[in-house]
Formats: sequence, structure tokens, C-alpha cells
Amino acid sequence: MAARKTSDKAKPRSRQGKAANSMWGGRFAAGPAAIMTEINASIGFDRRLFRQDIAGSQAHCRMLVKQGLISAAEGKKIQAGLETILREIEAGRFRIDPKLEDIHMHVEARLAELIGEPAGRLHTARSRNDQVATDFRLWVRDAIDRLDAGLADLQHKLLARAEEYAATVMPGFTHLQAAQPVTFGHHLMAYVEMAGRDRGRLKDARARLNESPLGAAALAGTSLPVDRHMTAKDLGFAAPMANSLDAVSDRDFALEALSAMAICAVHLSRLAEEIVIWTSAQFRFVSLSDAFTTGSSIMPQKRNPDAAELVRGKVGRIVGDLNALLVTMKGLPLAYGKDMQEDKEPVFDAVDSLELCIAASAGMIADLKANAPVLQAAAGEGYTTATDLADWCVRKLDMPFRSAHHVAGRIVRLAEERNRPLEALTLAEMQAVEPRITKDVFAVLGVQNSVKSRISYGGTAPANVKKQVARWRALLAKEGRNAR
Ligand code: ARG
Repeated sequence: MAARKTSDKAKPRSRQGKAANSMWGGRFAAGPAAIMTEINASIGFDRRLFRQDIAGSQAHCRMLVKQGLISAAEGKKIQAGLETILREIEAGRFRIDPKLEDIHMHVEARLAELIGEPAGRLHTARSRNDQVATDFRLWVRDAIDRLDAGLADLQHKLLARAEEYAATVMPGFTHLQAAQPVTFGHHLMAYVEMAGRDRGRLKDARARLNESPLGAAALAGTSLPVDRHMTAKDLGFAAPMANSLDAVSDRDFALEALSAMAICAVHLSRLAEEIVIWTSAQFRFVSLSDAFTTGSSIMPQKRNPDAAELVRGKVGRIVGDLNALLVTMKGLPLAYGKDMQEDKEPVFDAVDSLELCIAASAGMIADLKANAPVLQAAAGEGYTTATDLADWCVRKLDMPFRSAHHVAGRIVRLAEERNRPLEALTLAEMQAVEPRITKDVFAVLGVQNSVKSRISYGGTAPANVKKQVARWRALLAKEGRNAR
């Protein structure tokens, strides 16, 4: 579509808004003030709905013909005209005029230019209120499908790296303090689970939004013999919405999708934050290649994880988008209010931002390299196998866990005083704390053995990671088969 913006401040306002509107100008003697045209126009952003708008009109037209509300010949002309408009918009050969307010009036006005009188029959038994609600549901549905595909790709990339790093040990943190050794594969698999739930939330939102408002007309339904089941089916909706007031006035479908997007963005921002921390010179846990870093114009040594920082940063606007629409909808009386024209930009912005975040996260995951020796060394720092020592005392010495915790604590203090890691203490030193300790305790003090022993369901053991990778691969493959 032509790139002219509706809020083009350079245009003299006096040239706009002279004549009464051709769509609803019947009872109007004069045109709107220039500023009225400007605040009223949504074409600057709702032109993104053109595909959905044309598809909705085509379905509506087929129904009007079938119901005998317009003739087959008129229907044919309308369909051909709409096809032409679709091609014009796709080719960027479509004229935008802010006086025509929105995408719906642009398409109708152009249709009138192209085919004359029958164009005026397309709006039979329809209002822009049910039209925009239909278009927007279709648009959000498409967006959800794109986000879902992006998240599935992210999951595939995470799985590949999790498999590669299934046995690579790293420190697991709580409070960002080294807690217990985990495997890097296990850590990455946590994000596969999160992405799985994000996809589930989007899928739920999709299922609930998939009902058709078309035919609800302005708010009360219509006296004309429409077939709303036919248009609903035609557009891939599960059913027509049962209440005409609800159909034109609720935007909960957009809010629900935005909520799911906001949660997903929060997940991605945590991964992004970890990448920022892990790539720092102080951590050096992972590195990103030139493809996902930028340099500094003054400090030659710098390699900045800008993509990760932007994924972390964009969550601000996505959560803001959800908040904006929640506040816009709050307290609006039924049915339609023009406030609701403000529903689109936050959704467009959130979808655009999140699509970028998902793609950038997938790119970084595929790009990053783990620094195994550094991870291994860090995994043992901070006495991270102290819990393994306590567990050993429970298992081998039949101690209550609280007493075992106490013994392990005293041994850690001893190691700290002597400035040595746990496994560098002698057996005699440990026996000074608990005489029943034997030399096979050393087997659990190394980080490799520690992670290998965590075989409880959901635990970090390399064998578990491999099983989970296989489980997810099977799930994703099944999903792919069902989609085909
Ligand atoms: N551009 C409008 C919107 O997005 C379309 C609906 C206009 N309806 C009306 N009654 N003025 O909300």
C-alpha cells in the first residue's frame, strides 16, 4: 500500500474535510473539521487488516448471493472488484485518503470506483462494527499461528543445544549464588518447557477467539435473512458468536492474546538476561559469534550482546501494550465505542516486537557456544556439592537429614578455613567432624558424579536430559504430522 501516512503534519489541514462523507454523509450538510478527520482516521495503521477485510467481504458477498439478497451477477462483479483491490494493495498501487477513515471505507470506495452501483450492495446486513471485529479476529488468529511457528522453531533450536550439552556441567543458581551443579542441557530444557506453555496459552486464546462476529451488524443483528453460520464456516470460524452486542463490543480475544504474548516475552527476557550475564568477561560461560554481537566505537575489546539486551528491553513495550488495551477497554459501556479503534496498534506492536524477540532468541541459541572448562570449574566453586555430602550421610549413615545438613555444614566451614574445595579435604579431616564417614564419600563430591546422581524425575542428570529431548522431539514431530 502507498506509504503516505495519515498523520502527515506537512499537509495543510485546510485542504482536508470539505465535503460530507460519501459513506454516511446523507444527513450531514458540511464536512468534518480537519482535526476531526485527523483524530478519526485509523487507515494509517488498520490498513494492515486489508487481507482479512477483503476475505471477510468475499465471504459476506457469497452469503448475500446464496440468500438472494443480491443477484449472482452483482456478486460476481463484487468478487472481481475485491480481487483487483487485493492485487492493487499488494502491489503498493492503492491510494490512501484520510477522509475515508479506515481500511473498510477505503476498500468500499475503491470498489465503487471499479464496479459502480453493485458496490453499494456489499454493505447489506453489515456494519463496520461487526466488520472490524471480524477482521481483527482473523488478523489475531493469523498472528497467533506465526508466533506458534516461531516458538516451535525456538524449541527445536533449544533441543539441539540441550542434546549437545546434555552432560556439560555448570553451576545452578538460586539468588544468583552458586547452589548445586546442573547440566547446561537441563538449563536449556527449562526454556523448552516454558515455550511449550507459551504455545499452549496462545492455542487456548486462538480456540476461544475463533467465533465469528460477522452478521451481528451494528449491535442488534439484522432484519434481513442472513446466514451467519455460512460466513462463519467460510472464514474458518468454529461458529457465529451467539450475542450480537457481545460480538461487536468485546476485545477480550485481543487481551487474551496480548496476555499470552506478555508472559512469553517475560520468559524470553529471562533467557536474554542470562545470555547477557553469561557472555560477560566476569562469567565467560558462553560466547556469541560476530553474528549476534556488536562492537564499541571507542573500546576495541568490546563485544556487546545487543540482541539479548533488546529482547530483554522489548518486554517493556509488550507488557505496556497489554496494559494500554486493558485500560482502554475498562469501563466502556456496551456496545461499540470509537475508543475501541485504539485496540489495533498495541496488538500490532506486541506481535511485531514478539516475533522479532522469538526469532532473535532462536538465532542466539543456535549461535552460542558453551565454554565447557569454565562452566565445569564454576560448577564446583562455592561448595556446590555440599548437598550431595549431606545426602550421602542420609543414605550411608542413616542420619536424619537435619543432622546430615549440620555435618556437611561443619565440613564446608573446615574446607573454607583451609581454603580448599570439598574434595581436597582428607578423609581424616572429614572424620574429625563425623567419624563414620568412609572414603567412598569422595565419589559424590565431584560435580560430574553430582549431576549423574540427580536421576529423580525432572532432575538434571544427563540421562534425564536425553530422555526429555527425545520426548519433546516426538511431541513436536507429532504436532508437525497433525498440522499437515
Ligand atoms: N475504524 C473503526 C474501528 O477500528 C471501524 C468501526 C467504525 N465503527 C463506527 N461505528 N464508527 O473501530
